[in-house]
Amino acid sequence: MFIKPLHRVKEVIDIPGDKSISHRGIIFSAIAQGESQLYNFLTGEDCLRTIDCFQKLGVSIKMEKDFVKIRGVGLRGLKVPEERLDVGNSGTTIRLMSGLLSGQNFDCEITGDASIQRRPMDRIILPLKQMGASIEGIEAENLAPLRIKGKMLQGISYDSPIASAQVKSAILLAGLYAQGETRIREPYLSRNHTEIMLKDMGADIREEGLQVICRPGNVLYGKERRVPGDISSAAFFLVLGAILGDSDILLRNVGINPTRTGSLDVLMEMGGQIRILNVREECGERIGDIRVKGSTLKGIEIGGALIPRLIDEIPVLAVAAAFAEGTTVIKDAQELKVKESNRIDALVTELKKIGVDIEQKEDGMVIRGGKGIKGGKINSYGDHRIAMAMTIAGLGSEEGVEVDTLECAAVSFPYFYDIIERMMNHEQ
Ligand code: S3P
Repeated sequence: MFIKPLHRVKEVIDIPGDKSISHRGIIFSAIAQGESQLYNFLTGEDCLRTIDCFQKLGVSIKMEKDFVKIRGVGLRGLKVPEERLDVGNSGTTIRLMSGLLSGQNFDCEITGDASIQRRPMDRIILPLKQMGASIEGIEAENLAPLRIKGKMLQGISYDSPIASAQVKSAILLAGLYAQGETRIREPYLSRNHTEIMLKDMGADIREEGLQVICRPGNVLYGKERRVPGDISSAAFFLVLGAILGDSDILLRNVGINPTRTGSLDVLMEMGGQIRILNVREECGERIGDIRVKGSTLKGIEIGGALIPRLIDEIPVLAVAAAFAEGTTVIKDAQELKVKESNRIDALVTELKKIGVDIEQKEDGMVIRGGKGIKGGKINSYGDHRIAMAMTIAGLGSEEGVEVDTLECAAVSFPYFYDIIERMMNHEQ
């Protein structure tokens, strides 16, 4: 699709449901007692894969008009699946489910697409094995497809070398089935949706700084919840509003959990005119509306504890940096290499192609901004966030950008290109 330059955008946009919270809503409701209803559930491909996996594990999950209805089977009610579970492109599904499946009383296999089969699983296999789990790569060590044999688990105290909510959540889910207490500590705080939702459903979970403690034994109770809009999806339009001169965009019902709002902090520090309105709380998650106006941006340094708070927004923040006066340094972001694609390679290669002065570093990149983006043809590597970030680059460019695959956006933002087409047609 050819993305043609825009000059201004005035829009009110309802952001689709948060991907992390939608996955957790299905997983935790499946092992709860009673019925749960999830409103504003993200019907992106990743979350549909999570639904499919739990249906294969014997859980009744139905898509109603406005919500998803899950009939929980309780902690011990999952059934042996008749076939291999397939998570598609979803790292959250395979890692969280591996923790959960390790503590069942049956064996099963789980896999995903070519990208998932390349992504590191040792980060969960190692701590889960310390808990007594039996989990092996079937074709290659520490890679999916994985064979998981259900075992009786023991609680552990684990110091994770990386700040990863997927690792933390896999261990906590295994901890629900373990004997004794499970503790996990991370170097920086990663998103805490698991802790919030499990606590809200009745689990014995305690957060102490960078450490989370889980005690088994409590029953989880199903409930009704509304999934907040995904700030990782909102970020594309936050950057678009900031880089296009006379713009004014209002994003409604966005999750603003402090473990996720690094992109807001960064864009504000860069000089973005951003206001958070109508702040409220639902089921322990903070929600607000975000308004952004055309801004003059300046380069900054992004690293350390900020990284886990904006890890998925780095592709589009790199686009913002191309429009910012001065230099932006993104460091401590090695984790980008093991996302849906190697996002350091992808961003540096593709942004260079469309005229950005960008230098690759081992743990990130340096962008010398202020010259904007010329335009050209890019490759998205089938990675949803690269495709959408490059689309924003195209809308802000001088000559437009040809983006190769759009279908991958469906992983996290099914109607993203409907909004983009509407914006491009509107300006004609
Ligand atoms: C996620 C955690 C993050 C994030 C991913 C979703 C989650 O990954 O990048 O998109 O839902 O737990 P890591 O845990 O690998 O940092």
